[in-house]
Amino acid sequence: MSRSARKVDHINHALLTGQALSHGFEDVKFVHNSIPEINVDEINLSSKIGELTLSSPIFINAMTGGGGKETTKINQQLAEVAAETDIAMAVGSQMAAIKDKEQQPSYTIVRKVNPKGMVIANLGSEASIDQARQAVEMLEANAFQLHVNVIQELVMPEGDRNYAGTFKRIEELVHKLEVPVIVKEVGFGMSQETIKRLAAIGVEMVDIGGFGGTNFSKIENKRRDRQLRFFDNWGIPTTASLLEVHHANTCIDVLASGGMQTALDLAKSLALGARAGGFAGYFLKILKEDGQEALINEITDLKEDLTMILTALDVKSPHDLTKVPLVFSGETYQWACQRGID
Ligand code: FNR
Repeated sequence: MSRSARKVDHINHALLTGQALSHGFEDVKFVHNSIPEINVDEINLSSKIGELTLSSPIFINAMTGGGGKETTKINQQLAEVAAETDIAMAVGSQMAAIKDKEQQPSYTIVRKVNPKGMVIANLGSEASIDQARQAVEMLEANAFQLHVNVIQELVMPEGDRNYAGTFKRIEELVHKLEVPVIVKEVGFGMSQETIKRLAAIGVEMVDIGGFGGTNFSKIENKRRDRQLRFFDNWGIPTTASLLEVHHANTCIDVLASGGMQTALDLAKSLALGARAGGFAGYFLKILKEDGQEALINEITDLKEDLTMILTALDVKSPHDLTKVPLVFSGETYQWACQRGID
């Protein structure tokens, strides 16, 4: 199957499979503050991640590009939404366009319709430094996501089977690429052990891409005859992964994603130490089912809802949420206890 046919397959299966919502956000509760003393006007939603400043802690996470009209249209619409709402946007893997220049317009459209916005390039961990530079140049990207997706590749019939040298490649990219590098999971989460190894080779930003949202084992299983069902429940839920990363106590700046749908999910992620939250499957579903205007309205509402939550918790900025008390229950609590996270 060609790469571009695979991209359309991913979109259709992602929409059919939906988001599992087993991310653990329901296990995290804010402790109510009866007497906040804040004025809503004092709240500033901007957020810093490494040297990047986001106008709000919401971004469109990597989804698509490459090939036909459908992926080009989705990227154009997402980029227009990003421009209109002033949020950052990552594109899907650009390997298709690096291997075949004719596929570049489905990515370059993103920069064309959003010339001043924050755009993030994306390639898999097999990428060489030369390919990463091409991906960044193609978009005049402000940052570069390097995705790690071993479970997806294993379930994908035509997926990679050789992962040797991944850490070495990540290390080279982080040190040589001219823009900040974000190492990103695609929905299976990152452990404290992984984060420590990434910190040791100089990685400064990760997107933990936790389990519980779009499920790439289920998506790839739909595309194969003999299914590897045991991977369908494999992974570290988003809240547990955020706790893992926090406990690792490195200098890495963290982005959260995996099942994000509401401002409350986002606020909980920020309270668990994330600098921003990425939305993929949820935004794609709104765009495809209800259209571009609906997605713009949803993002506007998310910002307003987040402002309300910050007000209730008496904090002026997303980062200040790390100071508010939280109570844990259920699987997230069990996970933390067994992993020595207090
Ligand atoms: C993705 N995702 C993804 N990630 C990546 O780094 N490169 C890619 O090319 C893609 N492609 C892709 C296609 C489609 C259709 C979807 C829905 C998702 C993964 C995405 O960025 C995110 O990590 C996961 O989807 C989990 O987040 P959500 O969907 O639960 O918000």
